[in-house]
Amino acid sequence: MGNDNQTTSQAKGLWGWINARFPLDTMLKEHVTEYYAPKNFNYWYVFGVLSLVVLVIQLVSGIFLTMNYKPAATEAFASVEYIMRDVEWGWLIRYMHSTGASAFFIVVYLHMFRALMYGSYRAPRELLWIFGMLIYLCLMAEAFMGYLLPWGNMSYWGAQVIVSLFGTIPVIGDSLSEWIKGDYFISDITLNRFFALHVIAIPLILVFLVVAHILALHEVGSNNPDGVEIKKYKDSSGRPLDGVAFHPYMTIKDLWGISVFLLVYCGIIFFAPTFGGLFLEAPNFDPANPMQTPPHIAPVWYFTPFYAMLRAVPSFAGTQVWGVLVMFGAIALLFFLPWLDKSPVKSIRYKGPITKIALTLFAISFVVLAYCGMKPPSTTLLLTSRIFTFVYFAFFLLMPWYSRIDAVKPVPERVTYHAH
Ligand code: HEM
Repeated sequence: MGNDNQTTSQAKGLWGWINARFPLDTMLKEHVTEYYAPKNFNYWYVFGVLSLVVLVIQLVSGIFLTMNYKPAATEAFASVEYIMRDVEWGWLIRYMHSTGASAFFIVVYLHMFRALMYGSYRAPRELLWIFGMLIYLCLMAEAFMGYLLPWGNMSYWGAQVIVSLFGTIPVIGDSLSEWIKGDYFISDITLNRFFALHVIAIPLILVFLVVAHILALHEVGSNNPDGVEIKKYKDSSGRPLDGVAFHPYMTIKDLWGISVFLLVYCGIIFFAPTFGGLFLEAPNFDPANPMQTPPHIAPVWYFTPFYAMLRAVPSFAGTQVWGVLVMFGAIALLFFLPWLDKSPVKSIRYKGPITKIALTLFAISFVVLAYCGMKPPSTTLLLTSRIFTFVYFAFFLLMPWYSRIDAVKPVPERVTYHAH
């Protein structure tokens, strides 16, 4: 390292000048050209980079939207229409942002599922996982507040339903929901504070957390589909035998993933920006109307699994607080995953049949609950939601037991990799 610094500071020209004053070269080496990623990465490993790409898309398109958006109850809806119809390329910027919101959750859910499959949350990556979970919470807050901004009828009523959930908390509930709204109902004041949080506060926290997430990853090194630590076997110069330099080997692979992603993303923006009402809901093309509830209030798809759980729990003694607890509990459980999994192996490749069935059922329950949460309530859907809420919770709560007793296959010492 000392040698590197010497060569860097002796380098001539602008590069040398910068590096004598700022550790650019050292940072690039540490995080890009000399960060060794396991050579057996598969395409599940592209979703982290895709999350970064979508984060940048959202930040940039958001900045341009803010140039013409007006955060006032009397002007917000009209300013969005103005962006769509009159601002040069305004429609593109708006659809990039609205499609980007759904794209964010798609790539992040797949990114999280990869971690579940390969046990990437296990030691020594617990903190990396916790940073990820905090990112997920911020993303949910960001999406929820962003959805109020167009001041459409679903923006209004969606916010109304979600904020009123806080009102179910005993003792402090009413004051809490009033505090969030800044008023007795969702009003111009609420819109203003949601705007401030959506545009500045949460994005700042999000960017900070993403940096922490990546620093934590680079501290411990990436996991891989075999779930074996590549740092165990190094060559004489200290490079992991099963690692390849992130640049150029992974950057080129990521570039391919990014291209495919952009193709699909642009396809949606250009040909199906509302995505059949899934990405932009129909009632949101009408301005907010406190006197008229939309016929069926449902959040956007990425929240619907939790919404289905909320509706699945009956209200006891006139309070919905149990449903709210179940809904928040479903998210909170994810934080504890590193300590719930007691299996001696990390990757699903070497885990036994019970774990494989449990993970499959968990994935099915998430999708089924998402569907149930989108549809108007019915007795069949209620029963289905109840069953799959149990399945969802059983996956976590029974994990300390089934992960311990399940059969495991022998884990190889080194990663398994066959050149194509
Ligand atoms: C803005 C959102 C996020 C960004 C930009 C992001 C970025 C990244 C990147 C670039 C990587 C390395 C590449 C890869 O392994 O795919 C990574 C790894 C990882 N992320 Fe995220 N991430 C985000 C959200 C999350 C969330 C919500 C979780 C889970 C709660 C999470 C958990 C992990 C884990 C466990 C790894 C290590 C995977 C392994 O080594 O096998 N991330 N993340």
